[in-house]
Amino acid sequence: MSKRFYITTAIDYVNGQPHLGHAYEKVIADVIARSRRALGEEVFFLTGLDEHGQKVQQAAQADGKSAQVYCDELAASWTAFVGKLGLTNDDFVRTTSSRHKEVVQAILTKLHVEGHFYQASTEGFYSTKEETFVTEKERLPDGTFPASYGEVVKLSETNWYFKLGAHQQWLIDHIEGNPSFIQPDYRRNEVLGFLKNNTLEDLCISRPAARLTWGIPIPFDPAYVTYVWFDALVNYISVPAARGDSTVLAATNSQLSTLNSQLSLWPADVHVIGKDIVKFHAVYWPIMLKAMGLPLPSQLLVHGWWQKDGAKMSKSTGNVVDPVAVIDDWGLDAFRFYVVRELDIGPDGNWTDAGFAARYQAELANGLGNLVNRSLSMLKRYRSGVIPARHDELAADAAKASADTVKHLRASELQAGLHSIWTLVNRANQYVDQTAPFKLAKDPAQAARLDEVLYNLVESCRVLAVLLHPFIPGTAAKIYAQLNLSATLDKLALSVWGGLQPGHVIGEPAALFPRRDTPKA
Ligand code: MSP
Repeated sequence: MSKRFYITTAIDYVNGQPHLGHAYEKVIADVIARSRRALGEEVFFLTGLDEHGQKVQQAAQADGKSAQVYCDELAASWTAFVGKLGLTNDDFVRTTSSRHKEVVQAILTKLHVEGHFYQASTEGFYSTKEETFVTEKERLPDGTFPASYGEVVKLSETNWYFKLGAHQQWLIDHIEGNPSFIQPDYRRNEVLGFLKNNTLEDLCISRPAARLTWGIPIPFDPAYVTYVWFDALVNYISVPAARGDSTVLAATNSQLSTLNSQLSLWPADVHVIGKDIVKFHAVYWPIMLKAMGLPLPSQLLVHGWWQKDGAKMSKSTGNVVDPVAVIDDWGLDAFRFYVVRELDIGPDGNWTDAGFAARYQAELANGLGNLVNRSLSMLKRYRSGVIPARHDELAADAAKASADTVKHLRASELQAGLHSIWTLVNRANQYVDQTAPFKLAKDPAQAARLDEVLYNLVESCRVLAVLLHPFIPGTAAKIYAQLNLSATLDKLALSVWGGLQPGHVIGEPAALFPRRDTPKA
């Protein structure tokens, strides 16, 4: 059983509706998953929901529902959201599922038996919002704690702790020795700076059941439930365990009863996460894995945060972007294209409705859409839709665009991939202007030249469809359908010039991205 390319997203808290930030992360993971499949790899793409913890318990209480009913209801809208984004995930994890809980408990039991945990009491300040004790170091000069912690209360509690001390140096060595482990580089440097300048405090992995019931019971001490992050991170291996991954099963001593397959998934190739949860993934998760005897994931790919109109998105101020509304208004591919094209994976981004409309108009409607529509329409009008003899005037441009796109996709450089694709869009549009096929069509002596030009244009559209498939699959499929090609276009190898056969008859051209005069308010 060969190992699959295994890619994951963060699992979203189920205490609200999906927003732009969630949508962005899932789309970039999907583009990477589709790219890898298009490069010929077998892929397993996992996303899902983080359903335990105080936030969910409180949200359910506020709604007057049991936590499970609350989660089940919201899970339905989150799974619908996955469909709305066109994700090609192979599984969807919910941390309240028994297959997940079993693995969390198996790990806790094993690490407990092996002496990684101890019980201690702490008196300190506790943030309910972040579900964590806040240290004195974090106190602001005026004596208060940062607003991000919400209400901070004094608490004295006995809990279970995970010993981290012995792990600090090897983790530093691992991060230094594997530069691609945390990307982009500036995120790696932040983690290294943190690890080199602080002594890791042991991680509190329990919460008293008297205070928080909505969690996975600690198997060796029923007075406690599992800290939500210890529970959530395990999703990345609980699904492989449930899918029969022997590496994970052996290390966790899990005895899952119903294995429906025997996939080889772990270690993950990429965990796609946002910048706010780097510490959990770059410090706690590697240490948890090391303690379990499991290999570390190959890469944490850390994306930035979106703002709207230069300000933090927030439900309370109404400053939000509802991805579902944007998709309903503009179409899924316009949304997928915009978020990947606008924001490279790493820095923060800023959504403006005007910026979205401008890219739609310039790059999708006037750029790609116009190229495909006029190329196919001219072939239809001047040659009854019949592909002329092959001609290679744009072959080198197409080959360069393909090679660059593939190189960028291999490195998960998605924005750069779109740049490469648009060099061909722009070159082909320029070629229309330079060769002026509408003039050639008026002169019977130029018939052979018109054939050449039309072949180059229509074949360029076909190549573009293949390259665009990971990013905007619906549009790619429409281009193929308009070309009357039935082959599935899910392999980048199909971008080799010359795919269109002379004599083939194309289908009906139709606008891919209708022009819109004014952006809707
Ligand atoms: N449940 C945890 C993750 C556990 S992973 C084992 C969590 N959930 S979350 O719903 O708060 O966030 C999910 C993801 O969405 C995170 O990667 C987070 O960075 C991302 N985003 C949340 N808001 C965002 C923006 N405004 N912009 C971009 N991404 C953002 O954290």
